[in-house]
Amino acid sequence: MNLEQATLAECFDAVVNQRRSVRGFLNKPVARELVEHIFTLASRAPSNCNTQPWATHVVGGTKLEQLREILPLNTLRGRMTLDYPYEPKYHGVYQERQYDAANQMYGAVGLERKDKEQRQEVFMRNYTFFGAPNVAFLFLPEHFGLREAADVGMYAQTLMLALTAHGLASCPQTSLGFHADAVREVLEVDASQKLLFGISFGYEDTSDPINNTRMGRAPLAETTVFHDT
Ligand SMILES: Cc1cc2nc3c(=O)[nH]c(=O)nc-3n(C[C@H](O)[C@H](O)[C@H](O)COP(=O)(O)O)c2cc1C
Repeated sequence: MNLEQATLAECFDAVVNQRRSVRGFLNKPVARELVEHIFTLASRAPSNCNTQPWATHVVGGTKLEQLREILPLNTLRGRMTLDYPYEPKYHGVYQERQYDAANQMYGAVGLERKDKEQRQEVFMRNYTFFGAPNVAFLFLPEHFGLREAADVGMYAQTLMLALTAHGLASCPQTSLGFHADAVREVLEVDASQKLLFGISFGYEDTSDPINNTRMGRAPLAETTVFHDT
């Protein structure tokens, strides 16, 4: 395909603007060839010295159903195992953004801050992959650190943009990283592979009200400084 520059820019802008975290999926399989094409595209992501440190496990079928049973049970029993500690210390503007995102998401299904139990029920949908037919788990070999984790982040965003461009939806989920041992066990992944997070993906259920959110962003001047005088 040899697209005009203007068309390319227009398509790219549309893909970036269309991608959002979707938390309700149709029970509709995604063709295997399409999945492979998208993961091949994702691997075009840049990485330090082209090391491509991501170790990806794409799951569907019976193993996904197994995880859909195990993860909620383990969560309810408090059986969590994390390879990377989760200690969110959001203060100031970061805390404001966190609260705003939560209020928008839970607000979409009619829940307020005080509705703690119902909010927890909605949160639990993370562990059934929001009904998605597939999930990708992103692992990092244990000797790698922050620098390589940033590479995996770039890979993940390339993956999610590729999914969007091909008519699919996704949700990145740190919450899936809370079950590192269970995921490794079901997928028979070596203990030296550390679980960063997962990404559920499939076709969006546009009738699910949870998907009626469109998170805003801070104005450019709040996050970006231009030094060009
Ligand atoms: C690494 C990462 C982990 C995330 N973990 C979760 C998660 O566990 N559950 C969830 O519902 N959303 C999760 N999100 C989605 C964020 O809440 C979402 O990206 C943010 O609110 C911005 O909204 P948008 O993606 O729709 O633009 C995660 C996002 C990222 C990048």
